[in-house]
Amino acid sequence: MKKLIACLSALVLFMGLTPAMAEDAVSSATINVAEIPAAGEHPNAAILVVYFSTDDTVRAAARIAADALGADIFEIVPQTLYTTEDLNYNNSSSRATREQRDETARPEIVSLPENLQQYDTILLGYPIWWGQAPKILYTFLESVDVSGKTIIPFCTSASSSAGSSARNLQTLTDEATVWLEVKRIDNRSTAEEIRAWALSLNLTQGEKNMQMKINGIPVTVAWEDNESVTALQELAADGLTIQMSMYGGFEQVGPIGQRLPSNDTQTSTSSGDIVLYSSSQLVVFYDSNSWAYTRLGHITDQTPEQMRELLGNGSVTITLTME
Ligand SMILES: Cc1cc2nc3c(=O)[nH]c(=O)nc-3n(C[C@H](O)[C@H](O)[C@H](O)COP(=O)(O)O)c2cc1C
Repeated sequence: MKKLIACLSALVLFMGLTPAMAEDAVSSATINVAEIPAAGEHPNAAILVVYFSTDDTVRAAARIAADALGADIFEIVPQTLYTTEDLNYNNSSSRATREQRDETARPEIVSLPENLQQYDTILLGYPIWWGQAPKILYTFLESVDVSGKTIIPFCTSASSSAGSSARNLQTLTDEATVWLEVKRIDNRSTAEEIRAWALSLNLTQGEKNMQMKINGIPVTVAWEDNESVTALQELAADGLTIQMSMYGGFEQVGPIGQRLPSNDTQTSTSSGDIVLYSSSQLVVFYDSNSWAYTRLGHITDQTPEQMRELLGNGSVTITLTME
C-alpha cells in the first residue's frame, strides 16, 4: 500500500509539471555530456561508478562524479535499447511504463563489470521512472555479488524525490552490503553542484597497493613506476600466484603466466631486487647477478640474511594481490 501511495505521489508530482517543463526536464540534461571526459581505467581504483541512463542526465552526473573521485565507470547497457516511444511516460502501455508496473520485469543487460572484486565502493546512478529505479537496476543487482561493499545510490529526476527507490534496491542485496543515503540530483543541477556532492562524500580513493607474500609471509616492496608494474598490478587485481624455483644460488624465478611489457637493460641486481626476465618470468634476488632485465621493485624490509633465509631454502610460492 505504502509503495502504491509513494508511486502515485511521484506520478502526481511528475505529471503536475506543465507539459513544456516536463518535456524539457526529461529530454535535456543541463550539462553537455560530450564535454565531460569519460573516466579512464584506473587499475588501483577502489571506487566504481555504475550507472544507467537513457538521455544523458545520469550519464553526465556519473562522469562528473567519477572524474572528481578518480573512480572507474561502468554503464549498464540494455540488451534492447530503449526507443523514444519505449520511454513515453504519457503512454500507459509504453515499454518503460509496463516494466515499471511489472514486479517481475528484469530487462536484460549486455554485460556486467569485470573485476568487481577490485572495488570497495560503488556509486550507483539511475533516473527516476515513476518514482522508482528502472527495473534494469534490479537485473543488475541480482546479477552481481556486491556483498561487503558500500553502495552510494544517486538518482536524477525532473521533480520527484528519490522516495523509496534506493530502499527497494537495497532489498536485493544482503546484510553485509552497506547502503549510504541516496542522493537525488535535479535535472537542472550544474556540473559544479554535482562535483561538490561527489567530493562531499569524503571518499578517499584509498589507493590500493600491490602486496607481495613469499610463502604467505608479507614483504614490503617499493614498486617501480613503469608499464610492466602496471600490467602486473592488473593481474594482481585478480590475485596472482607464482610457483618459484631456486636458480644459480642467487635468485628464485617463476612464470607469470603471460607476457608483460618490458624494457630490458643490462642490470646489476642485489638482494631484495625484483625484476622481469624475458617478459614473462618474475625473478626475486637474494644475492647479486648481472643480466638484461626490467626492474619491477625492491623489497625494503628484509636484510640480505633474511632474504637468503626466505629464498635460499627451496622453492617458494609468491602471491601478488591488490589491497
Ligand atoms: C519512463 C519515464 C518515467 C519518468 N518518471 C519520472 C518521475 O516519476 N518523476 C520525475 O521527477 N521524473 C521522471 N522522469 C524523468 C527522469 O527521471 C529524468 O529526466 C532523468 O533525469 C532522466 O535521466 P537520463 O537522462 O539519464 O535518462 C521519467 C522519465 C521517463 C523516461
